[in-house]
Amino acid sequence: MNMSFNCFFWNIILSVLVTFQLSASSADLREAPKKKALIFGITGQDGAYLSGLLLEKNYEVHGVIRPASLPNTDRIKQYIPLNDRFFLHYGDLTDSISITNLIQTIKPEEIYNLGAQSHVRISFDLPEYTAQVDAIGPLRILEAIRQLGLADKIRFYQASTSELYGLVQEIPQSEVTPFYPRSPYGVAKLLAFWMTVNYREAYGMYACNGILFNHESPLRGENFVTRKITLGVANYKKEKTGILYLGNLDSKRDWGFAKDYVEAMWLMLQQEKADDYVVATGEMHSVREFVELAFKEINVEIEWHGEASDEYGIDIATGQTIVAIDPRYYRPSEVELLIGNPSKAERVLNWKPKTSFQQLLKVMVEADCKLVAERDLFILKPLK
Ligand code: NAP
Ligand code: GDD
Repeated sequence: MNMSFNCFFWNIILSVLVTFQLSASSADLREAPKKKALIFGITGQDGAYLSGLLLEKNYEVHGVIRPASLPNTDRIKQYIPLNDRFFLHYGDLTDSISITNLIQTIKPEEIYNLGAQSHVRISFDLPEYTAQVDAIGPLRILEAIRQLGLADKIRFYQASTSELYGLVQEIPQSEVTPFYPRSPYGVAKLLAFWMTVNYREAYGMYACNGILFNHESPLRGENFVTRKITLGVANYKKEKTGILYLGNLDSKRDWGFAKDYVEAMWLMLQQEKADDYVVATGEMHSVREFVELAFKEINVEIEWHGEASDEYGIDIATGQTIVAIDPRYYRPSEVELLIGNPSKAERVLNWKPKTSFQQLLKVMVEADCKLVAERDLFILKPLK
């Protein structure tokens, strides 16, 4: 009796201990981050989505932010309370010392360089600065990795771009299409592309270029065309007036969803061998088409009148002008069309875009309609 009581008693204790241990060890397992990643450009559109993806995959995420007079962490604010696995550090791609110090202290397994002056039109106004950040910035990271003796320990992702194709030499564009950049931004990114290839070939570094075509989301910067349009549409829905001023309506882009694209970045760093990949949808639409479909989301049909810089679009139902051209948004040299061939990414990375063009457009219009209900906009001039 005593014996069976003892057995029973110890069984209970043991099962409590085992249960406790199991739950403690599974909690430990759940909590111990698998890998450390360092993200340059964490405060941008892609930085925010990539942070979310890596945290989901149980990474310890470190991000570089630039000093600013107002916090610029709006896109990643939901991760800041995760203070045991999400860390922000001051640094700048123009400052080698901060780059070297951060890599030396954090010793990440993966570095994602998403940092850039990423606006093509602005790169014509700030060519030297754009080159410092977008061309020499990634070189600073690559060289810091090498000088710290970490070339065989760190995997590096460089945010390359379809802007490298510029004046396109082939349709659609793939990894073997020759480059012909058409802006200081594109030229700066070209240097970074080849530096990444060169450090891979010269020093055996695991360094990849993601040649990403345009990707958008509700987190897209407000001066890129898709977001500017969806904000304009949302504003018209709220105010029933206002003109959206745009530049070249006839340029064509291959637009995908940013959340799908950061998955491809991560996949590139998980392969046996480092390589470069085009990431795109393989579908192309014009700016004009984006405008028409975005207004359609709020049941507004556009009719176009005039030509070139005198062109304007009216709301058929009211006769009001709702879109007009402002030549300030033209570029000194334009990239007229981009359409990518993502078959290598599909084949090797098993990556495919999940979100259609129409779904992307809908998500963006809906998000901005919500946002605009709460604030005023700077992009619209009053109705003339
Ligand atoms: P984004 O929203 O403009 O974000 C750029 C990021 O770079 C921001 O976090 C910005 O910080 C940071 N940054 C700017 N200058 C810096 C500097 N001097 N030092 C350190 N960080 C700096 O760009 P994105 O759309 O997320 O794109 C991410 C990357 O992919 C960029 O390199 C872009 O050129 C490239 N890319 C984008 C696309 C696209 O369609 N989105 C397509 C192909 C390639 P602040 O917040 O402080 O300004
Ligand atoms: N920004 C902007 N504003 N673009 C306009 C406007 C306008 O008012 N009106 C027409 N466009 C046209 C531009 O001339 C361009 O042909 C097209 O819309 C897209 O412009 P953006 O949205 O500014 O993007 P981008 O294609 O120049 O550059 C983006 O994609 C690249 C990848 O191809 C950026 O994210 C780059 O960083 C990225 O590398």
